[in-house]
Amino acid sequence: MSDFYRSILRPVLFSGLNADPEWLHVQTLRSLSWINSSDWLRSRLNHLYGFDSPRLSQSLWGLTFANPIGLAAGFDKDGVAANVWSSFGFGFAELGTVTFHAQPGNPQPRLFRLVEDLAALNRMGFNNQGAASLQSRLEQRSKGIPIGINLGKSKITPLEAAAEDYLGSFRLLKPLGDYFVVNVSSPNTPGLRSLQATDQLEPILSALQTENQSEKPLLVKIAPDLEFEDIAAIVDLAQRFQLSGIIATNTTIRRDGLKTQMIPATRKPITEEAGGISGAPVRERSTEVIRAIWKQTRGSLPIVGVGGVFSAEDAWEKITAGASLVQVYTGWIYEGPTMVKRILQGLEERLEQSGFESLQAAIGSSHNLAIKE
Ligand SMILES: Cc1cc2nc3c(=O)[nH]c(=O)nc-3n(C[C@H](O)[C@H](O)[C@H](O)COP(=O)(O)O)c2cc1C
Repeated sequence: MSDFYRSILRPVLFSGLNADPEWLHVQTLRSLSWINSSDWLRSRLNHLYGFDSPRLSQSLWGLTFANPIGLAAGFDKDGVAANVWSSFGFGFAELGTVTFHAQPGNPQPRLFRLVEDLAALNRMGFNNQGAASLQSRLEQRSKGIPIGINLGKSKITPLEAAAEDYLGSFRLLKPLGDYFVVNVSSPNTPGLRSLQATDQLEPILSALQTENQSEKPLLVKIAPDLEFEDIAAIVDLAQRFQLSGIIATNTTIRRDGLKTQMIPATRKPITEEAGGISGAPVRERSTEVIRAIWKQTRGSLPIVGVGGVFSAEDAWEKITAGASLVQVYTGWIYEGPTMVKRILQGLEERLEQSGFESLQAAIGSSHNLAIKE
């Protein structure tokens, strides 16, 4: 099956038909939302793509994660396929970004493949049906893998009123998500990333934690483009507000080191196209950020690592750098539906080779080696 996707289907879709990436995404989600309501189809998928591994399971935030590989935010913004993700082998899935007000996002085209770089460029701008719509959809959901809900600020809400906007979504969705993420790191909502400054982030976290009363794990998702001292300040704040973890990282606004120079669909140089880059170009930086957070906290604050994961090796690097959980988005587009199973098999092999009893023992283990040496 993996060969079918990578050697036949992907070349046909990406090059032969040169299918518009957003069109393809919409069609994929349409099919998945259909599968979402069929127990039979989901069990067929699970048969093909699922992978059981007790050694990869862990307990975190009072939740059970059957494995550490999750779907990153942005793929299923409106939760239309919330029941399906476990059938592709994912141990958890993050829905959203959802905003309090429904919004159309930025004008199209707004999603591009950078095939030579194993990357994507997107400036979707939080296109989503709004928190109330996600609420009614999730009320129909059957219980399954842990579901995270990623919250963003509505475009029409001024930055000064951001806390109220996040809070509005959180109030509606609190009973329906297993963990929540404050997204202040998308490059595609004007000014959003300025909310990463601690004086701006503080009132948002304060409002959410007051409402939360420690009932649900709350995390913050950060950009890869922050300086280390800014990351350290966010980590301090996260600890002060007793957040449950940090998601590192979102897409990058950097354009250096790319092979792709021109976007064929717009005929503009890549340096003139707004948006965030995901996939292979963000891999190393996101792992560096994970490493820095782990070092600062000595592993006391769980990290969800995301950015450029395509293989077991990539996931292992993030886990041993300090990530308790790992998410994928762009890798899944390139590698196809067998990707999670392949990663899980590879992680089991690495546990075996390194002599770790469990996944938990491997988290942050590259730091310990460095200390011993
Ligand atoms: C098309 C697209 C849309 C995305 N939308 C969101 C989003 O709505 N919220 C969010 O927090 N991250 C979003 N992301 C970022 C991913 O969740 C992830 O942090 C980033 O792409 C790095 O992981 P990757 O290299 O595995 O894709 C999006 C990424 C892509 C490619």
